[in-house]
Amino acid sequence: MTIEGNQAVLALANVSHCFGNARALHEISLTVQAGERVALLGPSGAGKSTLLNVLNGTIAPTAGQVEVLGRSLHHLSARQLRQIQRQLGRVHQHHDLVANLAVIHNVNAGHLGRWSAPKAALSLVWPQAVETAAAALDQVGLVDKLYARTDRLSGGEQQRVAIARLLVQDPRVVLADEPIASVDPARAHDLMTSLRDWCGQTGKTWVVSLHDVAFARCYCDRLIGLRQGRVLFDQPVDQVSDAMLQRLYQLSP
Ligand SMILES: Nc1ncnc2c1ncn2[C@@H]1O[C@H](COP(=O)(O)OP(=O)(O)OP(=O)(O)O)[C@@H](O)[C@H]1O
Ligand SMILES: [Mg+2]
Repeated sequence: MTIEGNQAVLALANVSHCFGNARALHEISLTVQAGERVALLGPSGAGKSTLLNVLNGTIAPTAGQVEVLGRSLHHLSARQLRQIQRQLGRVHQHHDLVANLAVIHNVNAGHLGRWSAPKAALSLVWPQAVETAAAALDQVGLVDKLYARTDRLSGGEQQRVAIARLLVQDPRVVLADEPIASVDPARAHDLMTSLRDWCGQTGKTWVVSLHDVAFARCYCDRLIGLRQGRVLFDQPVDQVSDAMLQRLYQLSP
């Protein structure tokens, strides 16, 4: 089944997801068009990470339909799902780097969908595409860490390694979960500017969860407010009022 008439890059129709008895997403319907820059906002536990995981196919929702790049994610083989996921650049809230490898290997993981298994294995011994990795690390201000062990980097530096891997992957869609959470404000602006320019120049679609509303206003053109697994608002950035944001983040139900 497909979502009728849908031309979007990402589309959810009546998507709900429960972890056991706890409902993390409740009947979410939304579409994202090519080139849009969308921020997911909402208090802790609102469902932002779950929504991004549904969009990248790592969580199959308990109900509803998900389409990515025109393909329904239902009933795909593992191979078909991997093919779609190669076009999705993911930055995780708790980044998923291999701690005991040098930074270059984590950045080169961005090539994995394209490289053959022998080339990927060779690269672990004899690093391949060193210039590309160095250029990506240069963009995030870490070129001097090319051969450093990843777990010797600070949390914010590791987040920047994950962004360098994304640059190397060069996906069609970026799904980033709090990509600047542990980065200092000046570096965070620098990273978001780089991401925005890169996405703009290459026509990428961008969905990013952020806790900082000012960053969302500055770098995204559409804001989706999630609260208790429901969409509270979904508006162009200039139509989101302070009152809407206050309601989104208020502590009482
Ligand atoms: N693996 C899991 N098992 C059980 N419950 C989960 C799991 N992952 C998330 N949840 C629950 O689902 C709800 C949504 O969680 P989610 O991580 O999507 O929120 P979030 O908006 O990303 O929060 P944060 O801003 O703290 O990252 C929460 O109530 C959370 O406790
Ligand atoms: Mg989260």
